[in-house]
Amino acid sequence: MQKRKFISLVLLRKLLTAAIISITFLALFTGHLHIPSSKDHKFNNKFPTVQNLQRTQELAPPHLSKLPLSTSKLNRLRGDSDYVKLWKPPSNRGFLPCTKPTPNYTAPAESRGYLLVHTNGGLNQMRSGICDMVAVARIINATLVIPELDKRSFWQDTSNFSDVFDEEHFINSLANDVKIIKKLPIELVMVNETGMVKQQFRSWSGMDYYENEIARLWEDHEVIRASKSDSRLANNNLPPDIQKLRCRACYEALRFSPRIEQIGKLLVERMRSRGPYIALHLRYEKDMLAFSGCTHDLSLDEAEELRIIRENISYWKVKDIDPVEQRSKGFCPLTPKEVGIFLTALGYPSKTPIYIAAGEIYGGESHMAELRSRYPLLMSKETLASIEELEPFFNHASQMAALDYIVSIESDVFIPSYSGNMARAVEGHRRFLGRGRSISPDRKALVRLFDKLDQGTMTEGKKLSNRIIDLHIRRLGSPRKRKGPISGTKGMDRFRSEETFYANPLPDCLCRTEPPSRNISDIIK
Ligand SMILES: *[C@@H]1O[C@H](CO)[C@@H](O)[C@H](O)[C@H]1NC(C)=O
Ligand SMILES: *[C@@H]1O[C@H](CO)[C@@H](O)[C@H](O)[C@H]1NC(C)=O
Ligand SMILES: *[C@@H]1O[C@H](CO)[C@@H](O)[C@H](O)[C@H]1NC(C)=O
Ligand SMILES: *[C@@H]1O[C@H](CO)[C@@H](O)[C@H](O)[C@H]1NC(C)=O
Ligand SMILES: *[C@@H]1O[C@H](CO)[C@@H](O)[C@H](O)[C@H]1NC(C)=O
Ligand SMILES: *[C@@H]1O[C@H](CO)[C@@H](O)[C@H](O)[C@H]1NC(C)=O
Repeated sequence: MQKRKFISLVLLRKLLTAAIISITFLALFTGHLHIPSSKDHKFNNKFPTVQNLQRTQELAPPHLSKLPLSTSKLNRLRGDSDYVKLWKPPSNRGFLPCTKPTPNYTAPAESRGYLLVHTNGGLNQMRSGICDMVAVARIINATLVIPELDKRSFWQDTSNFSDVFDEEHFINSLANDVKIIKKLPIELVMVNETGMVKQQFRSWSGMDYYENEIARLWEDHEVIRASKSDSRLANNNLPPDIQKLRCRACYEALRFSPRIEQIGKLLVERMRSRGPYIALHLRYEKDMLAFSGCTHDLSLDEAEELRIIRENISYWKVKDIDPVEQRSKGFCPLTPKEVGIFLTALGYPSKTPIYIAAGEIYGGESHMAELRSRYPLLMSKETLASIEELEPFFNHASQMAALDYIVSIESDVFIPSYSGNMARAVEGHRRFLGRGRSISPDRKALVRLFDKLDQGTMTEGKKLSNRIIDLHIRRLGSPRKRKGPISGTKGMDRFRSEETFYANPLPDCLCRTEPPSRNISDIIK
């Protein structure tokens, strides 16, 4: 009797083990199939739609079904401590996307007029601005006209909305939230001063401002034209349904145009064929260096060239910058050389494939040489795709940036060398999707260590490596609550000091729907 019980227990255990293995295999296999083909737009499908999300929520292990590695690579890596140390995505700790409206949410109210939006900034600033304006249109009961993209920014890109984004998908997927039209009705295009009001919405505004001050404009005007879109909506203290709508807009409705998605997927496939990869947002571009006044490791001529550019651009207000102070505060992008030291210290072997997500690197190869000597497998759009494949995008900075965005979202490890708009947008989106690691360099601490290397008071090796690994143990992109304002700051500075909504949509759009999953091996025991 006792023995039979024992045997059936053993059997049960074997059965369960077999079941787990086959589930895992199945999940991996589906993961494998998920690798986008160039024909259809499967990359799109990877951005969860509401239905997909519900499915992932029900079917639990999201990481298994989403593991971004091919099966063979993964099998080789599994159980390998290097995999754990270098590539293993941080635990989602039970946080899953939750963007469904609350039960009180209604269809869009009757429209009181049209909201025209002139977005401003580079791709990522425009993206978050567009998502905010969806929410603003909802708050003021406006019909949103497809936003105009910024054609006058530093990037001088002539692209229209539909060149960069999938316009139909945007309109259709927000149908239950906001009425969106492609163009202002013809009879309104010619409206006079009284019909249309141009307004620069106040930065970081809450519900009161839009429901009262802005909605009051409907009494006299049929069209409200927002002259800027960046940071016009508060990060915090908005109703849950408005916050969730921002996430639906940014992470579900706002896809790149099919042309961009297709080449983006191609780049991802070509990167992935080399194994797990790092996407490095190397913000070592002329505009960044000129704007920030960072000149570490540059020649005098280079520093002078950048200073003149800064002097010359009227909308950059700060002209007189102390580059040493700037760097010691952690305000400078890491140089390519510094990134190399950083990656080596983290333990990434020199055969690691690295995708450089960036425009033109300042000084080109002269500044890349040291990074390349450590990591020869440096790839970019230009090296992965043929001239013919990239040709349609060349003169469009936003579209080129969109390709980098796609490869960065899909990367196994994302590392930004500077915490700008792109870094924040990609980190937030990856957090939302529960993608792999996003390592956020502690630049302030790092430059102190790099200076010691320069002065010869420290050398590269185990000690530096341990120090750098320790510094980043909590900077790997695992879920945490969005940071509020820095205490002691007041007024606009208070808002400015908050972590931005799209850098970390938790708690609004990531929820713990159930207790952290029970440990299966505990159940079998
Ligand atoms: C829904 O509306 C009711 C009544 O207006 C309110 O009491 C309740 O708090 C609302 N629920 C949510 C989730 O907003
Ligand atoms: C928008 O419409 C809803 C529903 O009709 C209404 O409750 C709300 O007050 C309106 N808001 C504004 C700003 O017009
Ligand atoms: C922008 O869109 C219009 C149509 O709305 C089109 O005629 C024009 O060529 C587009 N511009 C660019 C740069 O693609
Ligand atoms: C301006 O347009 C409004 C309606 O949009 C109209 O009532 C008004 O007469 C117009 N004024 C002029 C000067 O054309
Ligand atoms: C400064 O800007 C003006 C016009 O914007 C341009 O003509 C000039 O070449 C610029 N000078 C430098 C040194 O970049
Ligand atoms: C499950 O429990 C075992 C031992 O109790 C532990 O080693 C393992 O890390 C746990 N796994 C998870 C996913 O928590």
